Amino acid sequence: MEASTPTPEVTTAVAAATLPVVAAPSGRHMFSSRWTVRDILGREDGGVGLVDQEGVVAGWIRTVRFGNKGKLAFINLNDGSLITGLQVVCDSNKEGFDQLKATDCSAGASIWIFGKVVKSPAKGQTVEFLASKVALVGGCDPLTYPLAGKGHSVEFLREQAHLRARTNTFFQSKGFLNVHTPLITCSDCEGAGEMFQVTTLLNNVKKPEEVARTPTGEINYAEDFFGKPSYLTVSGQLNGEYYACGLGNIYTFGPTFRAENSNTRRHLAEFWMIEPEMAFYDLVDNMDLAEAYVKHCIQHVLTTYPDDMKFLDSVYKGEGGSLLARLEHVLATPFTRITYTEAIEALLKSGAKFEEKVEWGIDMSSEHERYLTEKIYNTPVIVTDYPKDFKAFYMRLNDDGKTVAAMDVLMPTLGELIGGSQREERLDVLRQRFAEHKLPEEPYKAYLDTRRFGSVPHSGFGLGFERLVLFVSGVENIRDAIPFPRYPKHAQF
Ligand code: 4AD
Ligand code: MG
Repeated sequence: MEASTPTPEVTTAVAAATLPVVAAPSGRHMFSSRWTVRDILGREDGGVGLVDQEGVVAGWIRTVRFGNKGKLAFINLNDGSLITGLQVVCDSNKEGFDQLKATDCSAGASIWIFGKVVKSPAKGQTVEFLASKVALVGGCDPLTYPLAGKGHSVEFLREQAHLRARTNTFFQSKGFLNVHTPLITCSDCEGAGEMFQVTTLLNNVKKPEEVARTPTGEINYAEDFFGKPSYLTVSGQLNGEYYACGLGNIYTFGPTFRAENSNTRRHLAEFWMIEPEMAFYDLVDNMDLAEAYVKHCIQHVLTTYPDDMKFLDSVYKGEGGSLLARLEHVLATPFTRITYTEAIEALLKSGAKFEEKVEWGIDMSSEHERYLTEKIYNTPVIVTDYPKDFKAFYMRLNDDGKTVAAMDVLMPTLGELIGGSQREERLDVLRQRFAEHKLPEEPYKAYLDTRRFGSVPHSGFGLGFERLVLFVSGVENIRDAIPFPRYPKHAQF
């Protein structure tokens, strides 16, 4: 994100220092208003131009120490944007100071700080950050945190791959860091059981009885290549979260695989997904980013390839009139933002007849989605706060206990282009959701760890690349939006 002058609204809910994570702060707009450490220290003037300006910074504590008989706290704050941390100074009369003295407010804990940039009297830095209010976001127990202390070996960090982004080893000098997430995984990101299994147990096996088995007759995965069941990933999100919870803003772009037996014009068994993941973003920030990103992509194609777009427009025979007019309209219009409950009400009020009956609790199908965006609102629509029952385990539970902080971006002629959410950052609630989904915790131990140590509110989304190509090119079927399509019973070429 571009550096900008934040206008923080100091409405963050501050947790008792002993609680692992605060409730998601409201009233913030991280998309445009937070300073990263790079925004301050990475400036050509070293931050001097920001002196006396007020703002918000947020990240993970590297070190915290006290001076002046315990009346002054010095925090080295890192948010992944710059290798050097920002020195934050907090006086004991400032709101939240006592939280800094809590045991779990140590290295690895996540915090928010409101304050201003000031000239630094210390050596080695031009400016520092003078706190007027601090809030511990996610505590981090120094006794169990694997990265407590200093000087970890590369081998040790490999064993802590979900936390090593919080060290300097993988630093790169970008706003959003491009992280390559693995294609082979042992956990089901969407928890929907639509994964292709990866195994060498069947290599050279001709008869079922030749497959390795345990003494009790089950398939013996201890003898499989990875020593346990493994699969092609359905989404890079979980790995993306590990990196965002250490580097701030990251994105991953790679192939994803789904063994769902869908023969529609929008489904592939192998497709590419762009998945940004942002620490300290709430659902509103997530929507802001998604809308800006979709518009950016469309604008980029229109300005970079005007001749191709004129040609595609001339051959376009699909619905919705002119292709170019539709794209221009999307660029010029704010996306409508409604809750799932409002969407259901609008569909019911419309009196339209649908194949599948509309009522609160249904997983909307593409006919409903398209009716919303094409007929009712005539804009792209972002639907939020879906019933938790048919959404993934990682989506943040809303206060009503019934819905989750999910968002789907629906586009005319297409339906769903983006699926995303604010993530559940509260360990206890997340475990409860695992139980509800009957998911074993063991394969997700690393995921739960990120909520144990310096948990932060964070959000992200996935945009199906071929669906974007479909939308922008006006091509009718997604199988023509990728060079070599894979779908049920088709893996040719
Ligand atoms: O809504 P989905 O399933 O969300 C996720 O996978 C999240 N883990 C993403 C995240 O939050 N990081 O998928 C995201 C998008 C969909 O909106 C759609 O555009 C595309 O991926 N998609 C498909 N595209 C083609 N064929 C399929 N079978 C697709 N399934 C999802
Ligand atoms: Mg989805």
